[in-house]
Amino acid sequence: MSTKILFEITEKDLETGLRGFPVGFCTTSRVDPMLGLFYRDKPIVELASYEPEQVIRFLLEGQLEKNEGYFAFLKDLQGRSHIDSRVREYILKLPRHAHPMKLFEMALLILGSFEGTGSYREDTLNLVAKLPKLVALIINHHAGWSGELHSRPELGYMENFVSMLHIPDLKSKKNLIEIMRLFNILHYDHGGGNLSTFVGKAVASGLEDLYGSIAASMCALEGPRHGKANQDCLVFVEEVLNEVGADATADQVEALVRSRLETKKLVYGFGHAVLRVEDPRATLFYSYVQEHFREHPLVKMGLHLRDRGTKVLKENEKINNPYPNVDAVSGIALSVAGFPYPEYFTLLFGLARAVGISRQIVYEREEARGGRGLPIVRPKYIYRKTS
Ligand code: MLT
Repeated sequence: MSTKILFEITEKDLETGLRGFPVGFCTTSRVDPMLGLFYRDKPIVELASYEPEQVIRFLLEGQLEKNEGYFAFLKDLQGRSHIDSRVREYILKLPRHAHPMKLFEMALLILGSFEGTGSYREDTLNLVAKLPKLVALIINHHAGWSGELHSRPELGYMENFVSMLHIPDLKSKKNLIEIMRLFNILHYDHGGGNLSTFVGKAVASGLEDLYGSIAASMCALEGPRHGKANQDCLVFVEEVLNEVGADATADQVEALVRSRLETKKLVYGFGHAVLRVEDPRATLFYSYVQEHFREHPLVKMGLHLRDRGTKVLKENEKINNPYPNVDAVSGIALSVAGFPYPEYFTLLFGLARAVGISRQIVYEREEARGGRGLPIVRPKYIYRKTS
C-alpha cells in the first residue's frame, strides 16, 4: 500500500459530514461525478436491461454471463427464498400506523432472530433471496391488502415480488413489472460512502451480524435527506401539479420554481453529493416514462421541472449540481406504472439497496486486508469547550 497523500484535513473540514473523506475501498461500485454509477466496471446504463438476478450475481460474484454458473446461482437463490412461518406471524403483529421503513427495520431483526446463520456470506445470499417476500409481506400488511402470499421465485425476482403484492385495481402488471425491475436494478448499490451503506458497514465493524447491520443501514436510509427523498419528491410534484394544473406551460412551471426559491421553499429532486451531471439513473427513468406515459399529467410536469428547474438552478453559481437526481423521476415512474403509493417508495429503495450493502459488508468483514477484515470504525472527535 502506498504512502501517497489522498486528502488533507484542516479544521474547516470538521463537522462537514465526512464529505469526500476517503476511508476505504469499494469493490462493488463507484460513482463518477460526470459519468454516474458503475457496478464494478460496467456503467449502469449498460446493465439496466439485464435480468435483476444477473445484476445481483454480478455484484455478489463478479460474473455477468448467463452460463451454467448463472443457472446454478439462480436455483440456489430460489431455494433460499422461503421465510419461516413464525417470522410472518410476528410481522403481521407489527403496528400498521408506523412508516413502512420502521416495519422493515423491525422485520429484518425478526428474520435474523429466526434465520440468521452467523456467516455474513450465507446471510447475504439468504437475505437477498428472501427480500421480495419479506417486503411484499410488509406492504400488504401495512396497506391492509388481504390475501394469501403465494411466493413463486421461479417467475423471476421482481415478477414474483409484483405478483405477491395485492394491489387493488392494478391496470397493467406488465408495466409495473418493467418499472419495478428497472427501479430494483438501478438502486442496488451506489459506492461505499452513501449514508446507509456507510452505517451498515460501520455497525458490522463491531461484529454485529448481517441482519442487525442491515436493519441499522435501513434506519439511515429512512431519513428525508437520504432514501425518503423519493417519497417526498413525488409528493412535491403532485403539489406543483395541484397548484398550476395539468395544462400548465413550461413558463408557468418556471415561474413557480422561481417563486418557491424566492420564498425559501424547497424544490425537490435536484443536486447530488457526488454527481455533477443529470443522474444517468434519472435519464433512464425519463426515457421510460416518455416512451410509455408521455401524456400523463405527472410525466408532463416531471419533464417541465427537469427542464425549467435545471434552467433556474443553473443561474445560481453557488449550486454545483443543478441537474435532476434519480428521486426526481423514480416516484413518477412507479406511480404512472400502477404503484401510486409514495409511502412505500423508500422501502422499494431498501429492498434493492440491501443487496449492495450486504455485499460490501462481506468484503469488509471477510475479504479486506488479505481476509483479516477491517477493524472497528473508530474516528476521532476533538473536544471543544462550549460555555
Ligand atoms: C444513493 O443512491 O445512495 C443516493 O444517491 C445517495 C448518495 O449516493 O449519497
